[in-house]
Amino acid sequence: MKPKRNSVVEVRIEGLGPNGRGLARADGLTFEVDDALPGDRVQARVRRVRGGAAEARTVAVLEPGLRRIPAVCEHFGTCGGCLWQGVSYEDQVRLKMGMVRDALGRLGIAFPFEDATAAAEPFFYRNKMEFSFGQQGDEVVLGLHVRGKFDRVFDLRRCHLQSEASNRVVDAIRAFARSAGLRVYDLRSHRGLLRFVTVREGKGTGEVMVNLVTSEEPFPERAGVVEAVLRAAPEVVTVIHTVNRRKAQVATGDEMTVLHGEGFIRERLAEFTFRVSPTSFFQTNPRQAERLYDLVAEYADLLRGERALDLYCGTGAIAMFLARQAGSVLGVESSEEAVRDALRNCAENRVEGCGFAPGDAGPVLRQLRRQGERFDVAAVDPPRAGMHPGALQALIELAPLRIVYVSCNPEALAADASRLLAAGYRAERARLVDLFPQTAHCETVVKLVKR
Ligand SMILES: C[S@@+](CC[C@H](N)C(=O)[O-])C[C@H]1O[C@@H](n2cnc3c(N)ncnc32)[C@H](O)[C@@H]1O
Repeated sequence: MKPKRNSVVEVRIEGLGPNGRGLARADGLTFEVDDALPGDRVQARVRRVRGGAAEARTVAVLEPGLRRIPAVCEHFGTCGGCLWQGVSYEDQVRLKMGMVRDALGRLGIAFPFEDATAAAEPFFYRNKMEFSFGQQGDEVVLGLHVRGKFDRVFDLRRCHLQSEASNRVVDAIRAFARSAGLRVYDLRSHRGLLRFVTVREGKGTGEVMVNLVTSEEPFPERAGVVEAVLRAAPEVVTVIHTVNRRKAQVATGDEMTVLHGEGFIRERLAEFTFRVSPTSFFQTNPRQAERLYDLVAEYADLLRGERALDLYCGTGAIAMFLARQAGSVLGVESSEEAVRDALRNCAENRVEGCGFAPGDAGPVLRQLRRQGERFDVAAVDPPRAGMHPGALQALIELAPLRIVYVSCNPEALAADASRLLAAGYRAERARLVDLFPQTAHCETVVKLVKR
């Protein structure tokens, strides 16, 4: 008999699903179980049953498959981030390797995997955090979302993902808001001022940016906030005020005012310096991003004079790393703002040989083919969903000799790799680069070579 919602079942976890949830089979159903790891025998409360699938949440681990360790963070369990703090970092990396191998294996794909590039620093690695305001009675709350609750925020005392400076910024803004009697934006009435605080940090430069996002209500106290922030965190070099007039709860907005400094920070990766503005994309773990880009260049194995494509190039980081060896690199990217940043990054770092084609990957690739362009290597770093089928077909027709595919989604990687293998490429090398310690997110680089 199928279990009902809210009933408690006992299951053995066999593996991990795409989002890091434990997978189990019982009563003719496939269960996805929160807070459970391979080998665990757990009691779990059923949250949903649909067709042959069920979702459940662990209420007790009866027999752990993996040794648990005490979490370092006092907010573990309440916070929606860092769900893997309860297992050792070595085990986290092993679990991710398993997730990627399983996703590929489900489509019958096997890459020769090298040892993972684990993070040297599994805490305090992030260069960007977004904190939300909430209200508890009359009290302003500033922190992160309670796990699974988009409308509840808890007061953050210390986060282990960004840095001590970021914790001090949060404390200072919360204390100021309380003493000045500022009101938090209310999701239902759409009244109130305070919405988000984003802290960005150049790990290689030590520069910190604070972006305070509010509604359009008057904000005469904003100079006071800047003062409080600078007093608490001298690392802050720029403070920005963003007004978000829309109802959507997003930490971006319609109008930006620089209250202090230049309005951007700098980040250093290898010999390159990047300008990071409040809205520009940048990998969130810069130390590991540097190793990721070095690996992409190693896999690309470019000879002087060879031509490379950096597909989905963002602000041009991979193109710049490839340009160390390549004759020329062409970046393709749909965001015009990112292309502008890429051009400026190349100019400011005196990188030669990089060009950028703004536009949607599929049409741009078809245009390149019509022009008779040829590429020795294509580095491909698509968004989470993977490549659009039309873009993948266009890449296959462009026929680069080697493809280095960077993926943050093992399922999408498996689907795209399967098409590339069917189109005459072979699986040459693969490696996990851990960009997101304490979480189930996997970043993988694979190399495919034309047969
Ligand atoms: C994962 S990011 C890659 C970032 C870059 N490689 C880096 O490490 O900085 C994916 C990029 O693809 C771009 N993008 C999304 N859809 C696209 C499309 N259809 N065509 C071209 N670029 C696209 C996004 O704007 C984003 O910059």
